[in-house]
Amino acid sequence: MKVLSAASELFPLVKTGGLADVTGALPAALAGEGVEVTNIVPGYPAVMAALEKASPFHAYGDLFGGPARLMRGTARGLDIIAIDAPHLFDRPGNPYLGTDGKDWPDNARRFAALAKAAADVAGGINANYRAGVLHCHDWQAALGPVYSRFMGGPKSVMTVHNIAFQGQFPATVFGILGLPQQAFAIDGVEYYGNVGYLKGGLAAADAITTVSPTYAQEICTPEHGMGLDGLLRARRQALRGIVNGIDTDVWNPAMDGRIPQTYAAGSLTKRAANKRALEKTFRLEPGDGIIHGVVSRLTWQKGMDIFAAGLDALAAAGARLALLGTGETAIENAVLEASVRHPGRIGVITGHDEDIAHLVQAGADTILVPSRFEPCGLTQLCGLRYGCVPVVARTGGLNDTVIDANDAALRAGVATGFQFAPVDGAALEHALARAAECHSDPQLWQGLQRRGMEQDVSWSRSAAAYARLHRSLVKA
Ligand code: ADP
Ligand code: GLC
Repeated sequence: MKVLSAASELFPLVKTGGLADVTGALPAALAGEGVEVTNIVPGYPAVMAALEKASPFHAYGDLFGGPARLMRGTARGLDIIAIDAPHLFDRPGNPYLGTDGKDWPDNARRFAALAKAAADVAGGINANYRAGVLHCHDWQAALGPVYSRFMGGPKSVMTVHNIAFQGQFPATVFGILGLPQQAFAIDGVEYYGNVGYLKGGLAAADAITTVSPTYAQEICTPEHGMGLDGLLRARRQALRGIVNGIDTDVWNPAMDGRIPQTYAAGSLTKRAANKRALEKTFRLEPGDGIIHGVVSRLTWQKGMDIFAAGLDALAAAGARLALLGTGETAIENAVLEASVRHPGRIGVITGHDEDIAHLVQAGADTILVPSRFEPCGLTQLCGLRYGCVPVVARTGGLNDTVIDANDAALRAGVATGFQFAPVDGAALEHALARAAECHSDPQLWQGLQRRGMEQDVSWSRSAAAYARLHRSLVKA
């Protein structure tokens, strides 16, 4: 069974968030299910540099404004088809933004090229390869199902990682897509008179998935559907939630080469060495009291504005914080200012750093995820695996993956963390107080840690669910 996966990010070659983690980890997990995944990605500089044993797969005289070649090769165990189109992708930095921090003005063209090439490859543009299913992730690849449907290609899956990003462009963009006129319609890309990439993918795909069961329900509501809830309600039968896993080789506290001290559920006392290292890295005063951890994009979605506003209270309660993140300037400034007001208590590192992300999970006592909405969330899964107890908002995948330590759950021995709602300062403060109280009872706390570490956060169950979905489409 061959599946072509199309996405704008692929860990470890190019990553801005969890999308890359998922597209990078699923191929190996699906291989275990007998599904061979080939990954088509834009040929950003980092992708072209990482590609090994590359050979030409197809040449375009013109792909959205210039010549392009598809190159097939491997990188880090992944089977890759890179779209070597310098006029679209040979640019420095972030995959979506120019150095001015704004979207590249030609993103409509760049990601139409990704989707078009994906549909071409899936449909057999090179006689040596044809996909049973085209699997497209997020708006950047969302025209894939549209091209595949209108060009008679294979069945397709559209996976929504975040419905807040939809790829909406003016109607004039339709002219560059090379789609038949009937694709500018309600069952195609037309969206309130404009062109909607994700809208088109959701309308055209044979199956729709999102990354947790709770988020699958939420996006069918006006509150969370961001304008696409009506379409999703109409396609309810085609939609399902499959919760993400994490790569349990990359995230393995017993074997993790990025942390000072490895440990397992049976040797939790060894974590103390990582806590000491965390204190040094974040310039926190030493001590055994609770250290909260954050590894996050600093954005409105993640509730980081509310979190930043609560930092004085966090420090006043006697807790410490190790925060790694990057994002909106106002939020970065707010957390940096709090770290100046509370030296030794609030430690902040801005930027993206995989090593420090691992250190936070291995050394902090909690991982905080106060998101306003969260399709799945991966950092709480890493937290569970590392004995770093999640404190999360009750939404989306956070709701599906963390069991709140209420009295009943504690008595039943099933609690793995703390949930709170709504996402506001008072509820957050209350959740932090509950966590701190529990932390002061070492036996209770270690119970939470161990139970978290026993959870299966790997891809095994969900990869099987995806494989079943892929097979059902080929049979249908
Ligand atoms: P999202 O994709 O919405 O940002 P997820 O929780 O799904 O959220 O995935 C975030 C991923 O990015 C995780 O692997 C997390 O460890 C990582 N991450 C987020 N911020 C940073 C950072 N500043 N440095 C390193 N890794 C980060
Ligand atoms: C998105 C979501 C996040 C999810 C990730 C991977 O970035 O914001 O919740 O975990 O995609 O599916």
